[in-house]
Amino acid sequence: MELITRSEQETIDLGYKIGKLLEANSLIALNGDLASGKTVFTKGIGKALGIKEVINSPTFTILKIYEGDMTLYHIDAYRLYENPYDLGFEEFLDAGGVMVIEWFDYIKDSIDAEYLKVDMSYVDETTRKITIEAQGRKYEDIIKEIEGC
Ligand SMILES: Nc1ncnc2c1ncn2[C@@H]1O[C@H](COP(=O)(O)OP(=O)(O)OP(=O)(O)O)[C@@H](O)[C@H]1O
Ligand SMILES: [Mg+2]
Repeated sequence: MELITRSEQETIDLGYKIGKLLEANSLIALNGDLASGKTVFTKGIGKALGIKEVINSPTFTILKIYEGDMTLYHIDAYRLYENPYDLGFEEFLDAGGVMVIEWFDYIKDSIDAEYLKVDMSYVDETTRKITIEAQGRKYEDIIKEIEGC
């Protein structure tokens, strides 16, 4: 499915809505250019998980863990492009939290799991196109729920 958001807040709200639908051990795969809104979307997910800390994209941190009602494992794979290392993120996939990976395509070959695929693209300064797709049965209901809103 495809959605348009017209402000940062609308993207946070979408992340929040989806975050509220996530079960433990979910994986959200984010792709899209620089400044397309991946981190903004993640802030909405974090809010839904009850995380109070500010979620950002620290320059040199690849994995950041935020404690909330559910734990958020926030990965920014940007710096892993063409990096052959398998950093072992998979161990967190069944740790009872939610994992969000920005620049997922850079490391998708090292991740064997189903996921909700979210592609973000820049339309203009305040507008983003967001395409959401279920990669695995577990995520199909989420798509149906959002379509129903
Ligand atoms: N509709 C919108 N949705 C999300 N962000 C928007 C929107 N309109 C404007 N913005 C702005 O676009 C920027 C998105 O930044 P963000 O850090 O989320 O991008 P990113 O995809 O995580 O980039 P990076 O690849 O560098 O991590 C923010 O400055 C935000 O205010
Ligand atoms: Mg980011």
